[in-house]
Amino acid sequence: MATEPSPTTSAPSPPFDSTELAEIESEAASRIDAAADIEALEEAERLAVGKRSRFALLYQQLRSFDPAVRKGGGQQLQELRRRLDEALERRRAALSAEERASRLLEDRLDLTEVMSSPLQGHLHVVTQVREELEDVFVGMGYEVAEGPEIESDWYNFEALNIPPDHPARSSVDTFFVDSGQAETLLLRTHTSPVQIHLLERGRLPIYAVVPGRVYRRDTPDATHLPVFHQLEGLVVDRGVSFGDLAGTIETFVPAIFGASVRSRLRPGYFPFTEPSAEFEISCAICDGSGCRTCSGTGWIELGGCGMVHPAVFEQTGVDPEEWSGFAFGFGIDRLAIMRHGIADLRLLVENDVRFLEQF
Ligand code: DAH
Repeated sequence: MATEPSPTTSAPSPPFDSTELAEIESEAASRIDAAADIEALEEAERLAVGKRSRFALLYQQLRSFDPAVRKGGGQQLQELRRRLDEALERRRAALSAEERASRLLEDRLDLTEVMSSPLQGHLHVVTQVREELEDVFVGMGYEVAEGPEIESDWYNFEALNIPPDHPARSSVDTFFVDSGQAETLLLRTHTSPVQIHLLERGRLPIYAVVPGRVYRRDTPDATHLPVFHQLEGLVVDRGVSFGDLAGTIETFVPAIFGASVRSRLRPGYFPFTEPSAEFEISCAICDGSGCRTCSGTGWIELGGCGMVHPAVFEQTGVDPEEWSGFAFGFGIDRLAIMRHGIADLRLLVENDVRFLEQF
């Protein structure tokens, strides 16, 4: 009698060929390990255990097996499934760690990186020099005054004793303002009209400096700008002499330029002062021995000055028998470029930060 091994007495050998299972596993494992990202891994998972996979096919076969062997086959497949799931899980963890690391690298904040500090501005070199000049004169007891930039012909010329046929009054030199009014208005060509405003105020004595912007119809070049700055000085008191004027200039020049720079007065002419003088400083470039900057003379003209003309006093109701005074005026921009050895006035207004930040 044929004896069939009783399924109950000894466990039937597992129905699936172990080489085939090993082949399925190694094929899936190499695909899983090769997956470069999560999508590739999902594809590898589909091929390994998805509906159309060899693994799924084996599962279908399982159903057709005799119940006696089905259990062993089920265990084989579960075992394989467990190992494949492990491999998938391992790869998934590795990929997400990689992804996190690369995201961190992208978003990295390097706290050791040296950041450029925020750009900080500073006062323009002309403003700096203006403030220095104000300080020097305030130290000598002067007040700092201001006046309008649009003036009438009377303040800018007439009251300053500048005759009607004076060349400065021509439209070649002066910017006139089209005011639509009968009175001639213009952009002041110098700060001297503020002398008139100060005298009209009627508070004497006067010790004042007046910094401010002035306008002339000049084409910009190395020594001219159509808009520039002047500093006017006016002193009116009892018994003021030309010696006081000279002493004042001799005090402020070294305060601005340093002790080695000397100053001198030369006779000059201005309608609103009498006598008038031009004041010059020894050339800071060649120390007075003569160079291109000072045209070989050793001296550079800085401004004009003189004793206040009696006609100016009379225009403003100040008694020239009781009061006397001196005035001076010079260009702040020219003084600034001399101070700093700058070759061309236009550099001051070109707004090149690389130039401006040097001062
Ligand atoms: N206002 C004159 C100018 O612009 C400069 C000047 C000369 C001012 C003599 C003065 C002075 O106060 O006394 O050229």
